[in-house]
Amino acid sequence: MAQRESWATRTGFILAAVGSAVGLGNIWRFPYQVGEQGGAGFLFIYLLLIVGIGFPVILVEFVVGRNTERNPVGALKRIGSGAWTKIGWVFVTAGFVILSYYSVVAGWTLRYVLLGLQGNYTADGALDQFLGAASGMDAVVLHAIFMAAVIAIVALGIERGIELSVKLMVPAIIIISVGLAAYAFTLDGATEAYAYYLSPNFSTIASNWTTILPAAAAQAFFTLSLGMGVMITYASYLGEDRNLAEDAGIIAVLDTFIAFTAGLIAFPILFAAGIEPGASGPALIFVSLAAAFAELPFGGLLGAIFFGTVAIAALSSAISIMEVVVSYLIDERGIGRVPATAALGVAMFLVGTPAALDLVFIDLYDGFANSILLMLGGLLLSIFVGWIVPDLALEEISKGIRNVGSLGSTWLWFVRIPVVLALIVLVALNAWEYFGFLTGDFADWLNTNL
Ligand code: TRP
Repeated sequence: MAQRESWATRTGFILAAVGSAVGLGNIWRFPYQVGEQGGAGFLFIYLLLIVGIGFPVILVEFVVGRNTERNPVGALKRIGSGAWTKIGWVFVTAGFVILSYYSVVAGWTLRYVLLGLQGNYTADGALDQFLGAASGMDAVVLHAIFMAAVIAIVALGIERGIELSVKLMVPAIIIISVGLAAYAFTLDGATEAYAYYLSPNFSTIASNWTTILPAAAAQAFFTLSLGMGVMITYASYLGEDRNLAEDAGIIAVLDTFIAFTAGLIAFPILFAAGIEPGASGPALIFVSLAAAFAELPFGGLLGAIFFGTVAIAALSSAISIMEVVVSYLIDERGIGRVPATAALGVAMFLVGTPAALDLVFIDLYDGFANSILLMLGGLLLSIFVGWIVPDLALEEISKGIRNVGSLGSTWLWFVRIPVVLALIVLVALNAWEYFGFLTGDFADWLNTNL
């Protein structure tokens, strides 16, 4: 077998993992989730879940990946037995579904870069503009273009493709986001927006926790790229001298910083234009924010910069999703990197095409893969690592850390009980929400369209 690839540098690994984490989840999904769930209360719960569940689960994936040096399916075959080896399939399926619609949304961002450069955002016609751009032939073409870019990078491999591209993309995302947030700070709506975004109302949280909690957990998983083996795969290309806990911390902090900054950009701009952030759902940045850009001086240019950043962030995430499925085909099926990437890209493009033709498929795919499969994958893997292979996990986490102290055992205890219990509740709540969608909105859609 050919020598397995690996990261050239530690920074390369961290940037790739940050590039995976920072994406549409931070800049598209996060602000509209905050809006839908009522503002600061959501932010508060979300931050708790990043620390309490996200960080420990990154480490769960890291120990499995570095220990086995395998793709997620191969990793579980190596250290697991029986039914445990099947968890990898949950991951590969989730990755396949997620990338197929992720690419559609990323295609919209490309469209909005063009609209901005042409000075074509409109305040009154923003919704129609979005509906025109979001579904139909144009959306299919942009979905294809984005998928082609993903194929091109992943086909080049770890060092020359992924590592090189994230070294350019991630610093750009950070710098431009901070710049846009500084600009948003100068707008008239800023004070009001910060109050909405930053001061939680605890009685609202208490009365809405059954929706806020599962939504915040799904967001935490999605934004940290957890539950489908991205962190297993990326850590599988990592040497034993690295301190996994430190790397996981850096990744979680940077990802949270960018999501938080996206809110600092979006809400002041919306409030300055007098737009209510609550009701727009997945259309928030495309309809409301684009309408706000239409009202601002140099709004077209600012919008193009903003959506360009979102597109870059989406690309650095999409390549990580692709890499999971590609690494499976390379390691387990002996298929070459280039043909594996190309074939998958075409298949994912086809599966995603319905989502480029009708918005209801975005919710159908997102709800299934993101709210159910990811958390289920995270739950099963946490049970596996915490209860089935705890010794291996403890040994792996202490490598590269000179003085672990009680870090390893605290982490393990945390994974075994609180994380597992919380995930069981959250998977159930999310499955219940999704069932509501299938029997409600989606059933209505089927009735009117078939
Ligand atoms: N985390 C990315 C974002 O926020 C999306 C992403 C990349 C992802 N890889 C993933 C989500 C793996 C879930 C699982 O946009």
